Amino acid sequence: MNNRSNTVKVAVVGGEGIGPEVTAQSHRILNWFIAKRGAPMTLREAQYGLIPYLSTGRVLPDDTVEAMDEADAILWGATGGPETKEVPASARKAGSLLSLRSKYDLYANLRPIVASQALVDSAPLKAEILEGVDFVIVRELTSGIYFGEPRGIETLPDGQRRGFNTEQYTTNQIRRVARAAFELARTRRSRLCSVDKANVLETSVVWREEVTALHKEEFSDVELTHLYVDNAAMQIVREPRQFDVMVTGNIFGDILSDCAAMASGSLGMLPSASLGPVDRFGRRKALYEPVHGSAPDIAGKGIANPLGSILSAAMMLRLTLNRPEDADLLERAVATALEGGARTADIAEPGAKKLSTLEMGDAVLSALDKVAGKERERA
Ligand code: IPM
Ligand code: MG
Repeated sequence: MNNRSNTVKVAVVGGEGIGPEVTAQSHRILNWFIAKRGAPMTLREAQYGLIPYLSTGRVLPDDTVEAMDEADAILWGATGGPETKEVPASARKAGSLLSLRSKYDLYANLRPIVASQALVDSAPLKAEILEGVDFVIVRELTSGIYFGEPRGIETLPDGQRRGFNTEQYTTNQIRRVARAAFELARTRRSRLCSVDKANVLETSVVWREEVTALHKEEFSDVELTHLYVDNAAMQIVREPRQFDVMVTGNIFGDILSDCAAMASGSLGMLPSASLGPVDRFGRRKALYEPVHGSAPDIAGKGIANPLGSILSAAMMLRLTLNRPEDADLLERAVATALEGGARTADIAEPGAKKLSTLEMGDAVLSALDKVAGKERERA
């Protein structure tokens, strides 16, 4: 939406490990939306990680920085893996995912957890626990212990080493992410659960007080509850359907979202959106990425599940392009492909045929044609 044009600029950055493989499939999907539905976007591919490091000495070369700087949305794959050893820590850090979250101030990380009915049989939790699970974790992404100072590793007089980090949150940091979560709750079932460790940590005492005050001032129509993080972890596997929107700090959100992945059936299925502040034109920078990491053990084999990345593209259609019908269409196509038996190895029932990453992309594309065709017949 730059320069008065309505065309959304998307930087497609596959990155490392399975990142490029899964992102290639969501790239095909986005091309489908451009060709078949006239979605106004331009896609610019850029490299990240070991490969550009070997030729430029930087994991994030100038071309990639430029593509991401000018983009309204970044479709991100994954970072990390065995190649980590080949890139010195300092070069890694200079262009890390954390530095990007910080640079673009992507403070509101939305991680939807929806149990797919087609997958309940291959999921690690019992079918009756997964029934009706549909919630969103809103994780604060630019502060907390991930970024707090002081931090470091020091050597003590007796020769021991001591590592230390700082957990911290300010009023504004808490309120802006809590506001995002309250607003999201209003578009859903109007229930927000704030997660902290206020029985032990001062940071959490401030967190709980600020969330409570904001609730009273602006969001009293939303039902607000609080949980300690240890209890929240238990509740997520005990009865996940009790949640609508959950808001929490950076490290608690990191841990709880992996835990919640089990309440969705598979980590490979989970999408995410990381949103920056709204500017004076009403735009906000966003980065979309699957929650799974670079999975170096299966990288390059063409067997990774691309649905986390594809569902992240659906979030992009909804949140950056403001095309909820297209987002719904893509989510329905994914559900249709799954109902039709499409499975990558990570979500396959014993004995089921295992699709490659590319074949899963094919399955979603043909489901898109089918679902869009049915829609046209109805219209
Ligand atoms: C995540 C990941 C990252 C995090 C890593 C890759 C730094 O685990 O997005 O959940 O800890 O935030
Ligand atoms: Mg994580």
